[in-house]
Amino acid sequence: MISFIEKYPVNFNFLQLNKKRNAVIGIDITSSAVKLVELSKNNTGYTLESCSVVPFPRNEQNLQQPANTYVIGQTIKKALHESNTKAKQAAIAVGGASVITKNILIPAGLNDDEIIEQIIIDASKYIPYNINDVFWDFEIQGINKTNVSLLDVLLVATRKELIEHKIELLKHAQLKPKIIEVETFAIGNALSLLASQLPCDIEGKTIAVVDIGANLTTLHVIHNFRSIFTRELAFGGRHLTNLIAQTYELPQSDAEKAKKKGELPEGYLCNILEPFKQNIVQQIQRSIQFFSASQNNHQIDSLILSGGCASISAIDKLVSDALNLPTYIANPFIDMSYSSNINHTDLSENASSLLVACGLALRNFD
Ligand SMILES: Nc1ncnc2c1ncn2[C@@H]1O[C@H](COP(=O)(O)OP(=O)(O)OP(=O)(O)O)[C@@H](O)[C@H]1O
Ligand SMILES: [Mg+2]
Repeated sequence: MISFIEKYPVNFNFLQLNKKRNAVIGIDITSSAVKLVELSKNNTGYTLESCSVVPFPRNEQNLQQPANTYVIGQTIKKALHESNTKAKQAAIAVGGASVITKNILIPAGLNDDEIIEQIIIDASKYIPYNINDVFWDFEIQGINKTNVSLLDVLLVATRKELIEHKIELLKHAQLKPKIIEVETFAIGNALSLLASQLPCDIEGKTIAVVDIGANLTTLHVIHNFRSIFTRELAFGGRHLTNLIAQTYELPQSDAEKAKKKGELPEGYLCNILEPFKQNIVQQIQRSIQFFSASQNNHQIDSLILSGGCASISAIDKLVSDALNLPTYIANPFIDMSYSSNINHTDLSENASSLLVACGLALRNFD
């Protein structure tokens, strides 16, 4: 498996690490939880076969401490157990600042070996690591619109140690890694599941997906199901939980529960939740300004909110009014059937935060 990668250092993004045809589950390992989705497909559409979301155990003494390899491995095992899946292969994502994606131009008319040679030369200009320390991949997007003697090529790279760490985590849970996908591409794939939520065709449109998680808020701008821009901010629902914990002198776990149930004293809505929602709106506005400044040839048509914070009451209306953009809350399961072991209440609570896991699970049908 690894020898394949080493033979062709150009592979990880769309890499099929294991050729055997078995069910592949999507596993999204986030900063706060392991999220698992398994889909099947027939001629009427997709069925959600299994699904689980298992938060990492919290260390109340040191809340900033990220979960270690052992804890993540154990949490994946728990997610597998809770979901009842029989699948033994997984698709996982890599994302954030450690993944470099770059659009480059190469001359048209080269043969396969020449293309690889040319890309190796170009890659070393854009990848700030020793080329031997990274896995990288490319995809030819087509002939350049302004110069037909050039090809548009998407280059993706990340450090080998990051991929090896992810593979190690899966091994802890006796899972075989089948596909390692760039997170923002997984979101692009998952957009196909949201088609009926949007009033217009996604094809040809530019959609902003704003994912507001526990620790991170990420803007993914997607055009024709392809990510064209991402911006990540260290901001998320944990800030609201911290504020609640401090204000009402609650342990974090109680603050988290009270936040989700909305069971907090009078004054919470005006003094804490409303300013937090305004903060979300400002973060989104700023990220979109960054996008517009860098790519003014694309106008955003619609905005999709994903991540757990998309469940905050009326956040979609606030964002829509402030940005003057039609705004929807992601529900990737909207057109699916469900197998009998799916808990509908859990699913509706978690739907908006399972977009990446769904995008990964779709790789089962490659
Ligand atoms: N109903 C709700 N009301 C308010 N906040 C909620 C609700 N449901 C979930 N959240 C918050 O959403 C956050 C978790 O979202 P999500 O599962 O998308 O994060 P994550 O993917 O684990 O984190 P990250 O993307 O930052 O690594 C938590 O802060 C949680 O408290
Ligand atoms: Mg997330």
